[in-house]
Amino acid sequence: MTRTILRARVFTFIEEPQGIDDTASYRYLEDGAVTIENGKIIAVGDYSPADAAGAEVIDHRPSLIMPGLIDLHLHYVQMQVIGSYAPALLDWLHAYTFVEEQKFGQQGHAAAIATSFFDELIRNGTTTAVAYCSVHPESVDAFFTEAARRNMLMVGGKVMMDRNAPEALLDTAQTGYDDAKALIARWQGKGRAHYAISPRFAITSTPAQLEASRALVAEFPECYVQTHLSENDAEIAYSMELYPEAKDYLGIYEDYGLLGRKTLLGHSIHLSHREAHVMAETGSVAVFCPTSNLFLGSGLFDYERLHKTGVRIGIATDIGGGTSVSMLRTLDEGFKVAQLRKQQLSPLNSFYLATLGNARGLGLEDRIGSIAPGRDADLVVLDSSAISHMALRMQTISGVAQELFLLQTMGDDRSVREVYIAGEAAKTRLA
Ligand code: GUN
Ligand code: ZN
Repeated sequence: MTRTILRARVFTFIEEPQGIDDTASYRYLEDGAVTIENGKIIAVGDYSPADAAGAEVIDHRPSLIMPGLIDLHLHYVQMQVIGSYAPALLDWLHAYTFVEEQKFGQQGHAAAIATSFFDELIRNGTTTAVAYCSVHPESVDAFFTEAARRNMLMVGGKVMMDRNAPEALLDTAQTGYDDAKALIARWQGKGRAHYAISPRFAITSTPAQLEASRALVAEFPECYVQTHLSENDAEIAYSMELYPEAKDYLGIYEDYGLLGRKTLLGHSIHLSHREAHVMAETGSVAVFCPTSNLFLGSGLFDYERLHKTGVRIGIATDIGGGTSVSMLRTLDEGFKVAQLRKQQLSPLNSFYLATLGNARGLGLEDRIGSIAPGRDADLVVLDSSAISHMALRMQTISGVAQELFLLQTMGDDRSVREVYIAGEAAKTRLA
């Protein structure tokens, strides 16, 4: 059996940081060793030549090894939508997104985009993502087939939408249910695949479709649920017109039994006091999508208020409303959103969100999101000096928290030296 030791500086969270000075929240090894066997981490500690005997040692010094980055919300079918000019969400959806998603009904398109999508994830150090596919079941097959080929832990599902979109993108309450059920049978729990029941949002689902979603959740409690919540003023107003009985936007999903610890609510920007409390009580996850929220002018996520209320929080790119596949770019924009709200979002808290925090959001913290014995060996190797201007700035940096802040402020795919997926090098093997 081959044993591999990755030698590098090692950084991983143990707990959620209480702020920039919380050195107890993480483990940092100046000359560390991550030992991998059969795709799993079996030991982490200071590097010792005696322990290395008989192992293959890969020396990544002076780079930093961290857990692979996790993206809690994106649309892989929108890879060719990024950077489309529009005033706001609903115009953007109709002018570009719904047009592009129709192409996933064409033979071969989903497989081609899935290949490019996974290449980009790996280039950027993202080892797990939660994805919306298109309405077409073939787009889900292409997604999980490509993920399996690369042995990546991925969450995804077929978007369900039965109104307020072009005819070619609509399913019905019944066909959406049948297709999702067949896809769950085909993919849920196969290898590293996890299925997400994905009614797009209240505007594009009739009450009958949300009822069908409720039935799926009851039948398949092991699956995730993902949808969009309170992203944009016009979206909120229209949702309330369509569901006049609901207490508020979250109340729509609540009325159909769609909240819980496996529910991921993209955006969650404009929430009332009641909505924040119901999210906290149900354990539903608010997913912060900073590049998208700024790009579409949707609003400023209220991290501090939701955190204080006890809402579980994750962070994501929201490709293609989001403007970068890079979680480093995403953390940078997240910091700026907090700045505009006069809130403190320290680099420790940002990197926590992108690793252990998002893993906890998925309830998969026993498998991913940290570097510890027993975890899957999904790792990213970051070089804070790979970009020339960053190398210059690194000369004045002291301490790992400052270095993380520089990585999120100036870093991108160039900062990602290597990515390990279940112990196998993936980035340097890209074509
Ligand atoms: N709300 C419903 N669908 C979408 C989508 O594709 N992107 C974003 N940003 N918001 C949505
Ligand atoms: Zn989205």
